[in-house]
Amino acid sequence: MKFFADTADVDAIRELNDAGLLDGVTTNPSLIMKSGRDFKEVVTEIAGFVEGPVSAETVATDHETMLAEGRELAKIGDNIAIKVPLTLDGLKTCKVLSGEGRMVNVTLCFSANQALLAAKAGATFISPFIGRLDDINLDGMELISDIRTIYDNYGFETQILAASIRTVNHVTEAARIGADVATMPPEVIKKLAEHPLTTKGLDTFLADWEKTGQKIL
Ligand code: E4P
Repeated sequence: MKFFADTADVDAIRELNDAGLLDGVTTNPSLIMKSGRDFKEVVTEIAGFVEGPVSAETVATDHETMLAEGRELAKIGDNIAIKVPLTLDGLKTCKVLSGEGRMVNVTLCFSANQALLAAKAGATFISPFIGRLDDINLDGMELISDIRTIYDNYGFETQILAASIRTVNHVTEAARIGADVATMPPEVIKKLAEHPLTTKGLDTFLADWEKTGQKIL
């Protein structure tokens, strides 16, 4: 499973990238707003040091303008994945951009039928939002499972990018089902390394080592 950081916080992305934990980055207009930075400037900076796909989202709702925005964002670099919303205009834009050899991430997916349409439109990634479905008492993980089954039934190569991940359990479940990618806030990626028995065991080992009076270096 690939790990993407769902943020436009450059320092947090650098930290995870330097630790070898990152396969890519996703941004959206809300994350850009939160960063307080210029959209193209911050995405250009991120795409300059992250090797994997960096998603940059269009904001137009009509096909023609969305396509123009996508082509403009694509100029930033070969690792830019153009994010388009799961609307008919977004799917049309996805078809054109993927036909031009661009990576396309179809976002705001909340049903299996929407995911089926995105795959037919040639999407590189489909982004089902787990947390936002859970927020309204629906089952986000069931959607990941349904999409996995449907894509496998027909051999679609569109990668399932589990999005709107809020907890470490979301990551485990999405991995168990076979989502190709999980995009999550940097804090969730860091939490994946935590376990109380690891902390406790390390404390014991270090205390016992101290008693030996030895040094490695
Ligand atoms: C995905 O690409 C989105 O940026 C993201 O995962 C949305 O997450 P949220 O529901 O926590 O805002």
